[in-house]
Amino acid sequence: MKKFLALILALVMALSLVACGSGAASSAGSAAASGSTSAAAGGKVGIAMPTKSLERWNRDGSYLKEQFESAGYEVELTYSDNDVNQQVNDIENLISDGVSILIVAAIDGESLTNVLDSADEAGIPVISYDRLIRNTKAIDYYVSFDNYTVGVLQGQYVIDTLGLKEGDTSKSYNIEFTAGDPADNNAGFFFNGAYDTLKTFIDSGVLKIVSGQTKFEEVATAAWDTSTAMNRMQNILASYYSDGTQLDIALCSNDSTALGVTQAIESDYAGSNTPIITGQDGDEANLKNIVDGKQSMTVYKAVANEAVVTLALAQAILNGETPDEGLTSQFDCECAYDTTSYDNGTGIIPSYLLTPTVVTADNIQEQLVDTGYYTMGTDGYPVAVG
Ligand code: BGC
Repeated sequence: MKKFLALILALVMALSLVACGSGAASSAGSAAASGSTSAAAGGKVGIAMPTKSLERWNRDGSYLKEQFESAGYEVELTYSDNDVNQQVNDIENLISDGVSILIVAAIDGESLTNVLDSADEAGIPVISYDRLIRNTKAIDYYVSFDNYTVGVLQGQYVIDTLGLKEGDTSKSYNIEFTAGDPADNNAGFFFNGAYDTLKTFIDSGVLKIVSGQTKFEEVATAAWDTSTAMNRMQNILASYYSDGTQLDIALCSNDSTALGVTQAIESDYAGSNTPIITGQDGDEANLKNIVDGKQSMTVYKAVANEAVVTLALAQAILNGETPDEGLTSQFDCECAYDTTSYDNGTGIIPSYLLTPTVVTADNIQEQLVDTGYYTMGTDGYPVAVG
């Protein structure tokens, strides 16, 4: 009898797991699987995304919309063209439209204090989505990926590809870093994760940063802009590599910057080797470059799952619960509850952090296509679903 009850319990738990790990079609179904659809029906959800010009936010917006709508919510989704004032305006409008909860991916993590304080006064809970919003007590929770690990994976990829071993200084390689937008709280985490992972090889002289640009502020890219990253790399190539010095590694924090760096290397690099180029996101143009051997890897973050976790968290908050570690047992994707890593200046913000994965030409099919996040185009290049 005991065994029978245990079996029933296991079955019930398995059935109530919210399905992560697959593309748009099944993630929509997962909302219904969470079981709280009817309790939440009727509320209005405000979603503020930064810009349509960086590919991933289009996917985030559509996955979030799909998740919340299929759980019975009305969704107002805004994109603010990477313009901070417009995002403040958009959020003000969402508040006056009477949303029950706000999900915000900030353009500038430091600029939403006043508008989110008004949300707080209006009793509207706020989930900081993907990027931590700083200097406001209005943030209830943070949902993201493990951002430091994104950088670690990029650094580790370099170590593995070159076969670097601590203590072996027989060979040296030239590396340049390109980081993200200083206004984005994530950018420092990505850079530090990569730099810390490579630090022992930089310190021992095995990895040489020929430009001497070693600090985050020196290698940052305003607005994560592709042309800005391209121009900076063109300048570096002209100043430090035009004499035939070999560039071995371009450590780029994400795909929009990797795209610019790849363009600079294609047009202005004198060397004949193909440098290792890292990225993050799985943007279509970068996956094409990976298939074509121009970019080495990208760190993929399944934003479909970020939407699944965000919906479950929002539902719990709106149901008057105080979500904690327990929420993570609802998901079948890896998602850690973290109460130490993210301090937004007013204290630690409890965070749900998903796990990023490395994608290379060798595992695109398995990681991106077989999982349902992308389809393989007839031209052999992946096309994002969502
Ligand atoms: C996101 C990255 C993205 C970058 C630029 C970051 O906050 O976490 O996935 O590449 O913004 O859009």
